[in-house]
Amino acid sequence: MEAFRVRVPTVVFGLGKRRELPSLLAGTGTRAFFALDPYLEKSGVGRETASLLKEAGIDVVVYSSIEPDPDCFGVDEAAETARRESCDMVIAAGGGSAIDFGKAVAILAKNPGTCWSYTRRRDQTPNTPGPGTLPVIALPSTAGTGSEMTHYAVFTNPKLREKSTIVHDRIVPRIAVIDPELTFSCPPRLTAFTGVDALAHAIESYVNINASPFSKMAAIESIRLCARFLPTAVTNGENREAREMMAWASALAGIAIAHANPTLPHAIGQAAGGYVHMPHGASVACCLVEIMRISRHSDLEGFAEIACALDPSVRSLPLHERADASPSLAAGLLNDIGVDVKFSQFGLSEKDIEKAADIALTGYFTGISLHPKQVDKTEIMRIIRACL
Ligand SMILES: [Fe+2]
Repeated sequence: MEAFRVRVPTVVFGLGKRRELPSLLAGTGTRAFFALDPYLEKSGVGRETASLLKEAGIDVVVYSSIEPDPDCFGVDEAAETARRESCDMVIAAGGGSAIDFGKAVAILAKNPGTCWSYTRRRDQTPNTPGPGTLPVIALPSTAGTGSEMTHYAVFTNPKLREKSTIVHDRIVPRIAVIDPELTFSCPPRLTAFTGVDALAHAIESYVNINASPFSKMAAIESIRLCARFLPTAVTNGENREAREMMAWASALAGIAIAHANPTLPHAIGQAAGGYVHMPHGASVACCLVEIMRISRHSDLEGFAEIACALDPSVRSLPLHERADASPSLAAGLLNDIGVDVKFSQFGLSEKDIEKAADIALTGYFTGISLHPKQVDKTEIMRIIRACL
């Protein structure tokens, strides 16, 4: 077995566990920058959490001006608030956007430079977050991004119409408080798109050429849980078991990508999604099946196992047939939850294909190189065209 390293936050999982936040934070700090999803602010969860913290003697600076797919310049402004208020920790509650936002504020509160200057791209050497980076405590309210488990944070640069990712161990949350109750009111369409994001994380990391036994274990269990529980979570958001299992599936997929990056579907999806601004999960849903179809013979064993996780009844088929079944099984799941989508539905057109391919190769070169099937610009353009 090859050597590998495991790096995960402390995980506190369970219904209502967010109410234990004050005791979990004992000794962490006294003044929190609270990156709060506007949706949680409206629902009252933000107010409830802030008052619990205040009762425990922790001052809270609430910041809820957080857009989906956060703008890197908005993070720069928020970081000024964190510096001015002398915050000594970041609590980030919401979807992946709020958690990623909080991670970058944790860096910029104590380090020079802009949010974008910390992103990993082929055209720049990223700044490195220093040891003063604030501790992050993450509370996810969607089941999909897995940001509560990772050292990634994704930002949009509206001037460039591109997305890029900060990648650093110092933004791994210190504690991930995964309270599935926070996902109960997530609307069906968002549940579907975020669920596909988790599924894609798990599939991509399972076949990543750097996958370890640890990341594969997390990934395959996540795929199994997504196949079994995502349709119910979408159609019946009140189903407690489906919500709990999807919250766990998302965390497992987050663990998987934290140890073996996402690969080609995220590289192409995020490049296209940043260019025309579409929901992150939708951008990945557009190309996941096509990329599985063209890649399945580059890792027969991997795609065969993915097929079995999606549908245990294919276990008895020969290896090739199992691998061949994996794209159509994934397509069936996407169809079941109503997200068999195309890039053109979100505004991408033929004239944008070459630019999106260039962005993928600039901002997502790592993910592309770790995919089991190696692709060049021509092939990336063909994939985007096929998914248009
Ligand atoms: Fe993702």
